[in-house]
Amino acid sequence: MGDITRIGVIGAGLMGSGIAEVAARAGRDVVVVEANAAAADAGRERIEKSLARGVEKGKLSAEDRDAALGRLTFTTDMEACSDRELVVEAIAENEALKLEVFGKLDRIVQSKDAILASNTSSLPIMRLAMATQRPEYVVGLHFFNPVPVQKLVELIPSLLTGEETAKRAEAFASEVLGKTVIKAPDRAGFVVNALLVPYLLSAIRMVEAGHATPEDIDNGMVLGCAHPMGPLRLTDLVGLDTTMAVAESMYAEYKEPLYAPPPLLRRMVEAGLYGKKSGRGFYDYTRGE
Ligand code: NAI
Repeated sequence: MGDITRIGVIGAGLMGSGIAEVAARAGRDVVVVEANAAAADAGRERIEKSLARGVEKGKLSAEDRDAALGRLTFTTDMEACSDRELVVEAIAENEALKLEVFGKLDRIVQSKDAILASNTSSLPIMRLAMATQRPEYVVGLHFFNPVPVQKLVELIPSLLTGEETAKRAEAFASEVLGKTVIKAPDRAGFVVNALLVPYLLSAIRMVEAGHATPEDIDNGMVLGCAHPMGPLRLTDLVGLDTTMAVAESMYAEYKEPLYAPPPLLRRMVEAGLYGKKSGRGFYDYTRGE
């Protein structure tokens, strides 16, 4: 089977930068592919900041930080993934874009037993796999935000994922990255989002209906239920654009109103209020909150 040492990560946003960081910290050589140079720079900065925080908190030595940075290469050319043994796709939650990426990776990645994984939150792994000529090597590896902190990875084999592929992907997440892996079905939302997304959407509907303020809803869940973070702050952290895209694919899959994005969420996304990453969502982050 052999150990997986050469990793590719497509997309260096919130999730891709985290995935690249943990793989580099685990001693793996990582190629990060972004859509353009500005996004690649932003991804590198995000990783540098996160590693610096690790050093400040005493979780990482300065030597380990430098070694991790030295294992990361940023590029806008997907051809750099030709020698990769595992590629994790983490671009925006947009099916057409992801299908295009999987088609390209299928042409580019040379090793015949390389694994092509997706970090999608809600799109069927089966559909992404069918954009390639090697569906048995395609699997879902769904990380959680922030990746260096959250311990979970959902492993999502499609109907055609090979047993060996699923085993190797699971071993990578658990043995190399130290994550706890749960196996999830290839159904929109997998396990965690199937429970979490309706909850986040309910909180947004409460704000929309004037039922309570975001602060009061969040305080209610943090102080009343001991959640580490309330649902509106969590939506800001996940990204309102991503939350809406996930809700839309869950609604498309099940046609149940509980997954339908509420109009307030749509309006906020249309307004560019994506949450923490854009500076404003249910809360304002421009004042250093
Ligand atoms: P994001 O918006 O922070 O980052 C997406 C990145 O992909 C951007 O930097 C963009 O420039 C890049 N990109 C777009 N098209 C590209 C292409 N063709 N080639 C290379 N790069 C490209 O989004 P985020 O939050 O990182 O989400 C990425 C994926 O991870 C989505 O599928 C999302 O559903 C999933 N996810 C998100 C979580 C979250 O809490 N935000 C949690 C778990 C999964």
